[in-house]
Amino acid sequence: MNHAKWIAYFHRNREQRPEPDWAAPIALPESVLKPLRPSLAEYQLGDGGGPACLIAGDAEQFRGSSDAMRQIVDLWFAEEREHSRLLGRAVDRIGARRVKGHWSFTAFLACRRAMGVRAELQVLLLVEIVSTVYYRLIRRHCTDQPLRDMCSLILRDEAGHVAFHRDRLASAGVSNWGLGGTLWELQFRLFGLAAAAMLWLTHGRCLRALGARPMEFCREIHRELSRFVWRLGRTVQVPSRVRLPEPLVA
Ligand SMILES: [Fe+2]
Ligand SMILES: [Fe+2]
Repeated sequence: MNHAKWIAYFHRNREQRPEPDWAAPIALPESVLKPLRPSLAEYQLGDGGGPACLIAGDAEQFRGSSDAMRQIVDLWFAEEREHSRLLGRAVDRIGARRVKGHWSFTAFLACRRAMGVRAELQVLLLVEIVSTVYYRLIRRHCTDQPLRDMCSLILRDEAGHVAFHRDRLASAGVSNWGLGGTLWELQFRLFGLAAAAMLWLTHGRCLRALGARPMEFCREIHRELSRFVWRLGRTVQVPSRVRLPEPLVA
């Protein structure tokens, strides 16, 4: 894994980040705003609003494996904190109340603490993959330009985060090749579907109000999970093809 390339990427990604025009007039109907308020408020807490670091008991084994990895992990979580800041502005814009805590977020943190760092990293990766679908559907269906601009910024970052996970997994020899790889892919897809189901249960009402359809959500989830597995296989098969991050596909 080329650590220097990743550090350079995260520093470069801090540039060219135009702030959404939060003061622009809002024209969203109440039928959209009502489910959008709790949805964005929960995301503001979940996407970088909690502890912005790895919290598994053995997290330091991964983060502290080298100075470079420590920098990469810290730069990654700095972007997560930025997502929470952006979402906070969005929450204020639509007149929602910021959420300080939620049982599902508390349970999520407890699971991450109890698991080993490898499992925590997979959970975070899967959350990033399904959240990519959440932000993409909001950007596609929401008519509010500042919210769409916010989604574009977050989607750009998440594409980099997912590519980082692909690179670290490939470096650790993980792929979908052979029997071991098939079993890895099976568990990856199963947990991915579980994360997607949880997302739809808690945020599906908001996405439906915006105009997204359940089949559209399922198609996007399938596409994101398949793309990750396919690219991971390619990365392991042809290491010279590693090019990070992948361009974001809207
Ligand atoms: Fe994020
Ligand atoms: Fe992320």
